[in-house]
Amino acid sequence: MTVSTYTVLGLETSCDETAAAVVRRGPDGGVDVLSSIVASQIAAHAPFGGVVPEIAARAHVENIDAIVARALADAGLGFGDLTGVAATAGPGLVGGVMVGLSFGKAVALARSLPLVAVNHLEGHAVSARLAADLDYPFLLLLVSGGHCQLLAVDGVGACRRLGSTIDDAAGEAFDKIAKTLGLPYPGGPALEALAEGGDAARFTLPRMLLGRKDCDFSFSGLKTAAARIAEGLTTHAERRDLAAAVQGAIANQLAERSDRAMIAYALAHQGRSLRFVVAGGVAANRAVRTRLEATAQSRGFSFTAPPLAYCTDNAAMIALAGAERLALGISDPLDAPARPRWPLDAAAASSKPTHIPGRKGAKA
Ligand code: KG4
Ligand code: ZN
Repeated sequence: MTVSTYTVLGLETSCDETAAAVVRRGPDGGVDVLSSIVASQIAAHAPFGGVVPEIAARAHVENIDAIVARALADAGLGFGDLTGVAATAGPGLVGGVMVGLSFGKAVALARSLPLVAVNHLEGHAVSARLAADLDYPFLLLLVSGGHCQLLAVDGVGACRRLGSTIDDAAGEAFDKIAKTLGLPYPGGPALEALAEGGDAARFTLPRMLLGRKDCDFSFSGLKTAAARIAEGLTTHAERRDLAAAVQGAIANQLAERSDRAMIAYALAHQGRSLRFVVAGGVAANRAVRTRLEATAQSRGFSFTAPPLAYCTDNAAMIALAGAERLALGISDPLDAPARPRWPLDAAAASSKPTHIPGRKGAKA
């Protein structure tokens, strides 16, 4: 019997969010998010100013049973109603990844369900499809705490990297600069709130990689410059204005590099629909969204960003990535490994690594 409707339990444990969701994908490709539960560990990590891997892994173990039970209850379903299980298998903090992946394997084994070991980045790549009719192919800017890449996405699992950060990810830049401004972790949302009403023109910050013709990103110079300025600030108004300047500088760079990628992408896709998608935690930032939307419009691209809840880490995007693979007849064996490093475009990552490759290969 061919199954044409997929009801998939998604599990996400690659960083500091324990998440479970149930997503149904119909025969026509229509998507229904039946439930999406995200338990944030922010309070557990906040005293350390960042995510502590061992604390994260333990918290995932403690939370996952209850989170999955809530996801099923919210969907009004039991394990017997599922047609597949999808769990993030990397990239991420391996202790956490193993918790969700092992849980997924146990459910798959106990219920004789197919398992999909999902690349977390593929989850972000499909996240805009959770709430919008968005066809392939599209140009994707993936901006999160760990990643900053421009990708040509041709279909499920078919990504070509056009550019990537040569140092920090955009979210990492938000988080680190927020820390120098005395803001709590995670810094991105806190910095956005502080920047409200600020005068970005008060401080001049460096514009990175201006002369370069590629689509790569760099945020380390901005981080150093902002930290130096932050040291000398005394008033709230100054800190607010610096936050606005930093947010503007990051939004500018994301828009400049995306603009460059759009030009190349449009040349390669003449006569076809041009779609630009932004995903990942930083896509939750309103200044970033506004800048990118204007850039897309000026280049004749449609613009799609996921609703805020699907920008940051969640399991609905993992369930959908799994359902899309199952619909193509793709699943993974029960010995699928947890992969701390797992580039979406493996060919580009090994031939043109932007991070120095570690012992186990390219990270992003
Ligand atoms: O996608 P995500 O939840 O986790 C990763 O896969 O990394 O992204 C988290 C990142 C953090 O760096 C956080 O500071 C940033 O996204 N972020 C934001 C905002 N919301 C989350 N950055 C700027 N403005 C926001 N509103
Ligand atoms: Zn993520």
